Amino acid sequence: MTPIQKVIKNKKTDNSPIWLMRQAGRYLPEFKKIRKLNPNFINLCLNENLSSEITLQPLKRFEFDAAIIFSDILMLPYGLNQKVEFKKNFGPFLGSLKIENISRVNQTDFLRKINPIYKSIKKVSKNDLLKKKDLIGFVGAPWTLLVYMINKKSPKKKISQNFFNDSLLIKKLLFILDKFLKLHIDHQIKNGATIIQIFDSWAGLVEEKDLPNYIYEPTLNLVNYVKSLKVPVICFPRGIKKYKNYCDIVKPDVVNIDYNVDPIFIQKEINIPIQGGLDPKILLTDTENLKKNALKYLDIFKDHPYIFNLGHGVLPETKPDMVDYLVKMVKDY
Ligand code: CP3
Repeated sequence: MTPIQKVIKNKKTDNSPIWLMRQAGRYLPEFKKIRKLNPNFINLCLNENLSSEITLQPLKRFEFDAAIIFSDILMLPYGLNQKVEFKKNFGPFLGSLKIENISRVNQTDFLRKINPIYKSIKKVSKNDLLKKKDLIGFVGAPWTLLVYMINKKSPKKKISQNFFNDSLLIKKLLFILDKFLKLHIDHQIKNGATIIQIFDSWAGLVEEKDLPNYIYEPTLNLVNYVKSLKVPVICFPRGIKKYKNYCDIVKPDVVNIDYNVDPIFIQKEINIPIQGGLDPKILLTDTENLKKNALKYLDIFKDHPYIFNLGHGVLPETKPDMVDYLVKMVKDY
């Protein structure tokens, strides 16, 4: 069994395994080199040779316990024929949303359009660097995908009131997303993903009264689906106020906490395995401060099944040496 699976299945508490969200990304010079030659981000995700190489880059440098496939949660709306672009210094930008067009996409069209992702997963899973390690496949949660598909770009601090105007559209979209997210999860697992992480990056924007409709029910459906395939599922409802309620209802195998969560409090409140928490900004400071803050998490979760990770993705300004220091420190704890 891999170190991460031991934490999840055996509730093992010594030697926390480690991987980092966005570990394959812009803080690595070897990634930037490939990115510069490939200005179209979507095409890069659809190039199985390059995306598998990028996935493996961080494992060549650091002793991470998992690889996360280099792709994006927005490859799903792309597969459903909504236009998706990544603009420099702006982030994602999606094209108009026509429910008639999306409803017309069948499973074969979808799989054909994003097939290189599965080929890339297969390639990575066979690499020697993955021995005794996990390969994390992932999807965006239905709510977070709704936000991008309707809002067409990253929201700022809140969602506009007219976002909810067309309730029939939202209902139809949630139905379609459920079907294609399951298909995407299934194909990632069939090709070698050993864990699935569900990213709900905008969970924090949902009001308490709307949580059952937009977060709990759609995510629970996916969690149950992943469990039925006998693969562990990690959920990251970033910014949600009540992680305990979320865990009680959605029942993921692991919950990733964001950096605003008080680790002492959550350790007492939640008894499933926990992942993450450290503020990625700490990696922009110095080794002494990094050590102090990483030790805080390691000490608090000493007797709790814990996978070391961050409270959000690695920032592009991070120095690779700081990541190296962190990985070694967690391994030597
Ligand atoms: O290393 C990894 O974690 C694997 C690859 C990965 C990417 N995106 C690559 C990427 C993963 C797991 C994601 C998930 C993702 N994508 C999320 C959920 C996690 C989160 O950050 O909240 C979200 C919301 C997206 C949508 C998205 N993709 C945004 C908002 C952006 C622009 C902002 C940014 O962080 O750059 C992207 C682009 C993106 N996805 C990049 C990478 C490496 C940068 C692309 C570039 O080089 O310009």
